[in-house]
Amino acid sequence: MDKFLLKPALYYGNNAINYLNGLTGKRALIVTDDFMVKLGFVEKITKPLDEAGIQYSVFSEVEADPSRETVIKGLNTIINLKPDILIAIGGGSPIDAAKAIMFFCIKTKEKLIETEYIKKPWFIAIPTTSGTGSEVTSFSVITDKKTHEKIPLTEDIMIPDVAILDYELTKTLPPSVTAETGMDVLTHAIEAYVSPKASDYTDIYAEKAIEIVFNYLLKAYENGSDLEARAKMHNASCMAGISFSNSSLGINHSLAHVVGANFGLPHGRSNALMLPYVIKFNGRLHQNSFEGNKAANKYKKIAKIIGLPCDSLNEGVLSMIEMSKFLNKKMNLPITLQQAGIDKDQFNRLLTEMAQTALQDICTSGNPVKVTVDDLKAILMEAYG
Ligand SMILES: [Fe+2]
Repeated sequence: MDKFLLKPALYYGNNAINYLNGLTGKRALIVTDDFMVKLGFVEKITKPLDEAGIQYSVFSEVEADPSRETVIKGLNTIINLKPDILIAIGGGSPIDAAKAIMFFCIKTKEKLIETEYIKKPWFIAIPTTSGTGSEVTSFSVITDKKTHEKIPLTEDIMIPDVAILDYELTKTLPPSVTAETGMDVLTHAIEAYVSPKASDYTDIYAEKAIEIVFNYLLKAYENGSDLEARAKMHNASCMAGISFSNSSLGINHSLAHVVGANFGLPHGRSNALMLPYVIKFNGRLHQNSFEGNKAANKYKKIAKIIGLPCDSLNEGVLSMIEMSKFLNKKMNLPITLQQAGIDKDQFNRLLTEMAQTALQDICTSGNPVKVTVDDLKAILMEAYG
């Protein structure tokens, strides 16, 4: 038996944030970061809350790659405040932090009182980047800053009740962030599409997301004020999130996690960099295996959808490799780890450990082709350049 979860309700398009005007409740907790406060985005939430007479507290201490310590602070806040509304606004980090805060709050209460008496707050996620898809997924990643370890959490209770996709919030994103987060969307959609857990339901969202990224990411990168491109990319991010949340990610993310954790590369940048090498490994080098052949067929299918050469399996896969390299180059993203400024000696020292950590990553089991530590080392070495 398989499952495709249709949640949350999506409010999208211009002024989607007006959803908040009809909100009812007693107390709200807003989880965000300082940047959102400075940009005035938090005010777009507090204003309707003030008008509706809903009390609120703003927890704006979330940092990039939220830490265990931040989640514990947020947990104390939510336990004291007892909100009936939880609103996360920002990039993936505040949304992931809010999910983790709610997750641990419910788990703590489950130890003390019977489940039927636990009330989950009405959870609203407002993404301000077009990348993580966190507003529609059941995943959250927390970082142990001391060990650089990523702590993945996954449970359906973390899926927001409402996602507000207001592209107006993304128009001030700088080109580098547009590029990185956009390539993260592409990686989500491609990994979900070639995943062994992919289904007709997840494929339709992945196909559309890939098509949109291919047609609109460069436009959004080159002209941040192109609102059509911004709106399309915001929707694509959400679609890719729906797809991978119901399917899976693969080793592209496992490798991006270790590269990001060890060398401080942003999530989208690491994913973008690894993408051509992972497509090559999954699609070209393993066409003789049953799984590899299936993956290659899926890559070929994507190439066909976006109108790239795909007369043979090899050509289809090659088109996907070149397409991802082309997008990276066009948007000034590094195409090797060396180009990303990673020191060779440090890389060599950490290579085996990174491959071992990537093998244990939660995403690795979702890869279309089974991998070993040596495979992951080989991909990393090729990506180093
Ligand atoms: Fe990602």
